[in-house]
Amino acid sequence: MVALDGPSGTGKTTVARKLAERLSAGYLDTGAMYRVVTLAVLRAGVDPADADAVAATARDAVFTVGTTPVRPAVTLAGADVSAEIRGPEVNHAVSPVSAVPAVRELLVARQRRIIDEVLAEVGGIVVEGRDIGTVVAPDSPLKVYLTASPEIRAARRSAQDNAAGRRSTQADALASVDRRDRLDSSRAASPLRAAPDAVHLDTSELEIDQVLVALSELASRRGLLD
Ligand code: DC
Repeated sequence: MVALDGPSGTGKTTVARKLAERLSAGYLDTGAMYRVVTLAVLRAGVDPADADAVAATARDAVFTVGTTPVRPAVTLAGADVSAEIRGPEVNHAVSPVSAVPAVRELLVARQRRIIDEVLAEVGGIVVEGRDIGTVVAPDSPLKVYLTASPEIRAARRSAQDNAAGRRSTQADALASVDRRDRLDSSRAASPLRAAPDAVHLDTSELEIDQVLVALSELASRRGLLD
């Protein structure tokens, strides 16, 4: 198993999926789980700041997350919401929702179940998030913490948004990335933090393929690549 943590815009998702393919492993995007619960909260008309109502919505939400790296679809109430969970409404509300301890408890338990199932079936998994190395899977044989400068992360986020047909300037993206980092790092329940034994990798000056080479080498040294 590989635990990949770090803030958004570090190339984490792209790299995690490619690494999973290279390792013939499964893949789990834990951010997608917080996002789909946030979408359920918004659809129910619940205030993301109302922790009790958010927790109840999370418990009732019927959702799935795919674990194949090529096309990991996310569904809510039986419908594919893979694109909708990346929209601006969810981006804005996901930090308060993911700060609710009952939501984290529920999702962490589900993440551990998915990891166990995929490890049993496929033999390996790359898991990306904010608290994988610290909380979800502290025994993971390889933990990597990806970073990049805020400007680079904002530029990547803005390019991603524009490619997906959502207009976004670099200034908008920088404000949004800054805001989410602040909220995610300062929350009481499992804040974004590197595990003490994580390998730090700054991706500011690296292309995706170079990050992939670095991670593959680390995985190989840990005996995770045959
Ligand atoms: O990786 P992402 O941008 O899709 O994550 C969306 C949000 O979910 C992020 O702002 C913080 C939260 N998150 C979290 O709290 N814990 C995780 N393991 C993954 C994501």
